[in-house]
Amino acid sequence: MKITLKAAKPESLDLDTLNFFFWEENAEQNCKKLPKEIEKEAREAFIQEEFKGQTDEMVTMSSRGLISAYKIIFTGCGKKEEFDNEMLFEQIAKSFQKSKENKAVKIGLVIPDDWFIKLDTKNTVQAITEAIYLSDYRFLTYKSESEREKTRDVEEVSLVLSPSRIVQAEAGLEFAKITSGANRYSRDLVNEAPQITTPTYLATEAEKIAKNSKGAVTVSILETEQIRKKGMMAFLGVARGSDEPPKFIILKYRPRRPGKKVVIIGKGITFDTGGLSLKPAASMETMKLDMAGAAAVLGIFSALPEIAPSIEVIGYIAACENMPSGRALKPGDILRAVNGKTIEVLNTDAEGRLTLADTLSLAVKEENPDEIIDLATLTGACMVALGEEIAGIFCNNEKLLSSLEKSSNDTGEKIWRLPLEKKYKPLIKSQIADIKNIQTGKYGGAISAALFLEEFVGKTPWAHLDIAGPAFMEKNTQLYTYGATGFGVRLILHYFNSL
Ligand code: BES
Ligand code: ZN
Ligand code: ZN
Repeated sequence: MKITLKAAKPESLDLDTLNFFFWEENAEQNCKKLPKEIEKEAREAFIQEEFKGQTDEMVTMSSRGLISAYKIIFTGCGKKEEFDNEMLFEQIAKSFQKSKENKAVKIGLVIPDDWFIKLDTKNTVQAITEAIYLSDYRFLTYKSESEREKTRDVEEVSLVLSPSRIVQAEAGLEFAKITSGANRYSRDLVNEAPQITTPTYLATEAEKIAKNSKGAVTVSILETEQIRKKGMMAFLGVARGSDEPPKFIILKYRPRRPGKKVVIIGKGITFDTGGLSLKPAASMETMKLDMAGAAAVLGIFSALPEIAPSIEVIGYIAACENMPSGRALKPGDILRAVNGKTIEVLNTDAEGRLTLADTLSLAVKEENPDEIIDLATLTGACMVALGEEIAGIFCNNEKLLSSLEKSSNDTGEKIWRLPLEKKYKPLIKSQIADIKNIQTGKYGGAISAALFLEEFVGKTPWAHLDIAGPAFMEKNTQLYTYGATGFGVRLILHYFNSL
């Protein structure tokens, strides 16, 4: 599917559906802006269907041959002063999905000029483009031919804009094409079956990214013995329950004149059974998602050569499965992380923090970066706190936090700050080791997990994103179909682009 910009009159375009967006309060003015050919019919349809332009209202009408598009779709956008970026994502997705329902292959979206008042042209077109691509995504690898044919692919979406905006819009469009491609790739990795997406598979994907990068990205993969030599005994502890060999994946992107150095880390548990602290069957159903952080890092790296930010970026993924077996980690086992701290493992299902302990320590030790950002499907507790739409963010640096919040606003990938509460530190103190991997008591699990990670970052500015909720949708929405969302890819790419 391609998205193009058009400055032509919409009624003259060769389309299947022509889509308009209406404010609530200004029905009269809205109508006056319509092409003369359809104005009268549209007014009648609005009366018939009591369409006032509210956000939950849509009207679909036949064009009766008055213009070349065969159907016209109107989407209400509510009150102008309440319209924001989030609404933009929603309403674009709705309008696009309605066109798909109507079997449209060529779609025209007429973008009202006053959408550009709050956001500049580039950012608005960027958001519109991302919304369309996000909403178009489907994972159909395992659907039979007959099933696939039921959904017709959209060939082209034309964004109709006033001529003066085209140049700036072009920049937004190009950027969004890259971020959307990275988002799609990341979702494919998570949606793919876990028998395929083993640690070895992720390592091969990383190598492919480097190969396609024309030298901008380099990759190295550490095998078990090299991982041992680095002292990553917490990571190896988790990995040893599985027959699949673990891989430690290192990706590096370096521009000619790099600014700061950022390490991004993705939790890469390619399947989480819980280990000997086995998960109940229902909780295990979606546990292929436990490498969503890793998939986000790979998605980001796939886009870095094209986005070409002026910072150095290093990606770390400790990839392994969390399985029960005769060799698996046992509650009571004690592991030593790269930074020398000892960890008493009391629940083998709290495995992500073990692999991350080593990954964070290694990042600090080997890279001494300006910033570390980790993305991890870390705790069910974070989902309890913030639901399916919002990631928890824990951050020891206000500047980093506010940059990420800005990017969150632009991309609609929602984050909400949770505290690294010092008072809770005693809850993860162990009787016989430095710390234990689960807390005393049952409340505030997302916080105690973050406090655990904090033990391994020292003073480095660091943001931990607990993406357990938004990484994976268990239902269909306008913007996201069931499955992976690629959460974090756009958030981080927008952030890097702003540096
Ligand atoms: N991968 C899970 C967290 C998770 C749960 C992600 C649901 C996405 C959806 C993690 O490894 C885990 O099992 N965490 C435990 C920690 C507990 C044992 C302290 C949890 O959240 O229950
Ligand atoms: Zn787990
Ligand atoms: Zn996990």
